Amino acid sequence: MSRKIAFVNYKGGVGKTSLIVNLASCLVEKGRRVLLVDLDTQSNASIWLLKLDRWNKINSTGVGSLFSIFDPGTDKMKDILVQSVIEGKDGGRLLPGLDLIPTSFNLVDLEGEYKGDAKRPAYLIFQEQLTEIENNYDYILFDCPPNILRASQCGIFSANEIYVPANPDALSLIGFTLLVDKLMRFQQVSASFRRTSMGPAAQVYGIIFNAIKTNVDIEVPKMRMQLRLNQFKTQKRTAPSAKIFTTQIRDATVVRRAVTLGLPTILVGQEGADADSVTSDYRRLAQELIEHVPVI
Ligand SMILES: Nc1ncnc2c1ncn2[C@@H]1O[C@H](COP(=O)(O)OP(=O)(O)OP(=O)(O)O)[C@@H](O)[C@H]1O
Ligand SMILES: [Mg+2]
Repeated sequence: MSRKIAFVNYKGGVGKTSLIVNLASCLVEKGRRVLLVDLDTQSNASIWLLKLDRWNKINSTGVGSLFSIFDPGTDKMKDILVQSVIEGKDGGRLLPGLDLIPTSFNLVDLEGEYKGDAKRPAYLIFQEQLTEIENNYDYILFDCPPNILRASQCGIFSANEIYVPANPDALSLIGFTLLVDKLMRFQQVSASFRRTSMGPAAQVYGIIFNAIKTNVDIEVPKMRMQLRLNQFKTQKRTAPSAKIFTTQIRDATVVRRAVTLGLPTILVGQEGADADSVTSDYRRLAQELIEHVPVI
């Protein structure tokens, strides 16, 4: 059975997409089969991994993008799947085993214009389609926008684990508290649609600190986050094994450069000590995630 994981935070720009792309590539490097699902209208993960030309083709027609499974509803998730998404200059596949469900700007219509069938919420349609392909993967990672609207709900409903990328600041703590509240509300509302074969409803299993600058002491914000997490664990509002990950990702220019190159940092190469260090952070994070198996 695949591990289905959503990366969520109410706060924007904390590094969800950067973490997910780099983590996915490190999991593939470790021999895991990984599907990344882009649930964000901004399409950052899709543009990053497909590069602009290939993504533009999808965006200009909407054909092959996630919204087409909802409206008109004729496409199946397995038809829009891009296998081994990262392409080299010669058209060869640079990271076989990293697949993508791409999205484009039309996903915004899922939040407004899309009416659908009230008895079949979008997250149920999404989950049913995912069932057809999920056994092909060890990890399915959902990149969510900074909210819990319909697109995010698709990932949260299908996932069994939630991880919260965060920056060590007061706003992240507020965002985390809001997130846990909204998650619990959504899990209650969607409970009647769950089937036992889906496994348990997703809870927060971990917080991952991202973009940590050298010489900046993060012990105080980290301690505040740990206290809040302990409180939530006692109240059974997060998983009992939820933790702040030991691995934290440093701030490094190569993370931003990797986006421009359309590559995860493990494929960027030859960028100096700074790049090597952040790449080793991502590798350690992948290992820590592999070992942080949920106790069900
Ligand atoms: N470790 C890092 N070092 C340096 N820059 C980083 C790091 N992680 C992320 N960034 C940069 O921070 C910005 C925001 O990152 P990212 O897009 O991953 O955040 P996000 O949480 O997905 O944002 P959104 O909420 O808009 O989806 C990007 O410019 C990204 O390149
Ligand atoms: Mg993002």
